[in-house]
Amino acid sequence: MPQPTALITPGDLSPAEAHALEQALQAGALVKGTTSPNPPVGAAILSAEGELCGVGGTQPTGGPHAEIIALAQAGSMSRGGTAIVTLEPCRHTGRTGPCTQALHKAGIAKVIFIHADPMREAAGGAQELQAQGIKVAQLQLEVPELQPWLSSVRLGRPHITLKIAQTLDGFTSAADGTSQWITGPAARENVHQDRCTRDAIIIGTGTALADNPSLTARTPSGELYPEQPLRIVIGSRPINELMPQGNLAELGFLQFPDIPSMLSEIESLGLRDVLVEGGPRLAGSFLQARVVDALRVYIAPKLLGSGTPSTLGAGVNTLIEAHEFELRSTTVLGEDILALYQRRNPS
Ligand SMILES: NC(=O)c1ccc[n+]([C@@H]2O[C@H](COP(=O)([O-])OP(=O)(O)OC[C@H]3O[C@@H](n4cnc5c(N)ncnc54)[C@H](OP(=O)(O)O)[C@@H]3O)[C@@H](O)[C@H]2O)c1
Repeated sequence: MPQPTALITPGDLSPAEAHALEQALQAGALVKGTTSPNPPVGAAILSAEGELCGVGGTQPTGGPHAEIIALAQAGSMSRGGTAIVTLEPCRHTGRTGPCTQALHKAGIAKVIFIHADPMREAAGGAQELQAQGIKVAQLQLEVPELQPWLSSVRLGRPHITLKIAQTLDGFTSAADGTSQWITGPAARENVHQDRCTRDAIIIGTGTALADNPSLTARTPSGELYPEQPLRIVIGSRPINELMPQGNLAELGFLQFPDIPSMLSEIESLGLRDVLVEGGPRLAGSFLQARVVDALRVYIAPKLLGSGTPSTLGAGVNTLIEAHEFELRSTTVLGEDILALYQRRNPS
């Protein structure tokens, strides 16, 4: 009979395990945006003596999983050691072999993982490791970097974050249409850092035609980050004339006439984590379609009194129909605030 997996909290970890956990979390965060359709997992290995001897993050599709990179670094030091992994080790052969087998072969004595694997074909790794005599515990913790992937697997479609940059009174542009630089430099830098962790950025033809944004992820000095998200435009108006140098696909843009066709296409492309950057009518359409899973709201200390609101046509007529979100975190960025929200009662 397989034993139920022991549940532990961060307070149950030894100092060495707590340090290895930090390393595993950082390794997972570093590869976010590069692994889809696979999850951005991080792993760390402690030797039997408690020495950190391997750290790894999942490589792009077809490449090794986090555990394999960390085990390779650890070499013979993994014998009798502990593996800390942000996601339950897989037990199936996909493009790479089962991580459970690799951990067993390396002589790992204990595995601590955080999230259970929700994919039917990969799940069950914990039981398999226990059957091989390895001590297994599940750590009660939430890994923010894994949430979009976990949600995407559960929903059977990409996880969708709506990004809004607005004034305190909820406007994204002034009455005369001016909208650039609502937020300050620290918030804008944060937008670029976030973009390179996403699989795609989505805008409407209205924003494409008004602003002709490059939608690239750039460093403060203007250089492109190595990872660039796919750029998607929704709407029927042609935008080709904005890009005289080539066709849309060659320039890394895809255009779709509506949200459902976009969602089914990008799901088949293996995209897991996408960011809707507006404008207000597209934001309203995503809300009305009830597919917004998270909000990323940059709030500038400005009041406009009138202008364009951050969302238009969200399909709400009375308070009880409001789209509800719960606050997950706030960060001060210069004079602006970044507030992150998760949809309440996801469908
Ligand atoms: N401050 C910010 O964070 C921010 C961010 C983005 C944009 N903006 C500002 O917003 C302004 C543009 O606003 P906007 O509302 O016109 O732009 P938008 O939301 O980017 O684009 C609207 C267009 O998107 C398409 N669309 C929206 N919902 C759709 C649906 N359900 N199915 C198919 N197509 C759909 C339609 O295109 P077709 O008509 O072509 O079919 C629609 O006309 C610009 O001035 C820009 O600067 C501000």
